[in-house]
Amino acid sequence: MKHLLSAADLTHEDALRILDTAGQMAATQAREIKKLPTLRGRTVVNLFFEDSTRTRISFETAAKRLSADVINFSAKGSSVSKGESLKDTALTLQAMGADAVVIRHQASGAPHTLAASGWTHGAVVNAGDGTHQHPTQALLDAYTLRRHLVGERGSVDASGRDLHGLHVAVVGDVLHSRVARSNVQLLHTLGARVTLVAPPTLVPVGVEAWPCDVSYRLDDVIVDGKPDAIMMLRVQRERMSSTGGGFFPSPLEYSRGYGLDARRMASLPEHAIVLHPGPMNRGLEISADAADSDRAVIVEQVANGVAVRMAVLYLLLAGEQPTTNRSAE
Ligand code: CP
Repeated sequence: MKHLLSAADLTHEDALRILDTAGQMAATQAREIKKLPTLRGRTVVNLFFEDSTRTRISFETAAKRLSADVINFSAKGSSVSKGESLKDTALTLQAMGADAVVIRHQASGAPHTLAASGWTHGAVVNAGDGTHQHPTQALLDAYTLRRHLVGERGSVDASGRDLHGLHVAVVGDVLHSRVARSNVQLLHTLGARVTLVAPPTLVPVGVEAWPCDVSYRLDDVIVDGKPDAIMMLRVQRERMSSTGGGFFPSPLEYSRGYGLDARRMASLPEHAIVLHPGPMNRGLEISADAADSDRAVIVEQVANGVAVRMAVLYLLLAGEQPTTNRSAE
């Protein structure tokens, strides 16, 4: 694996290797070995053209815990606001010696362009591109599902180390969600069954080709489908206004039809867990009761994200020569 651009690129074996490595990373952190020397002398650039709290801080923490040097670049306050292109920004950062570039961009496909361009010699990691992909989010979600639901700790009799036999409902604004796209692909690769639940206006064209079921009725999926996990998606109002789509149905209709609240929580199987990638719109896609319940693993998802991103950086960079040495050859 040279880059991590899409959950669709991960084989079953790749995904399990990352999840198993994340487990080892988490074990070192639990033993209070805060810093591993693995990436000493390597430089990780966080190149964020779009806002982020969790992903940016998580990648920074992960890189530092592996002893890498970290350069944080945020488009806001940079020469991007003077019109500098992705190419010139990438070339500038490469001149500072990037071994890995973690990129978030509002344009779907920007990480693929960067990986194919030669503007950077380092590994490219997609930290979220437009409505397209967010592979490390899907990996941390799978890691969280595995910890809670698979094997001896879990109440589902899943076989092996993957998510075979689990049913995951992914609910909400699927149309604008890179988290939904990435999760559908990765969960399918890992053997889980996925049901997407959304109002018809927030279901993408072509969803029939995705490896999942689709429903417009959340209550039916909860009662009849008995999901082992329910993943609530953020309603992305900023993308609705930028595409001129507006918010439809209304916020009240949306939360009545698709919000997770105490009544729906009570209808879920007892062992079911609640995920949300964050940031949450409390009172819209998820009520405070549900978000703060002891079945919600939302804060744990954030912690698991550090271990998963440590694993991704480790697997991409360990064993490779630093780019500064490669360019000197
Ligand atoms: N889940 C996620 O990508 O959150 P941020 O936008 O805060 O990084």
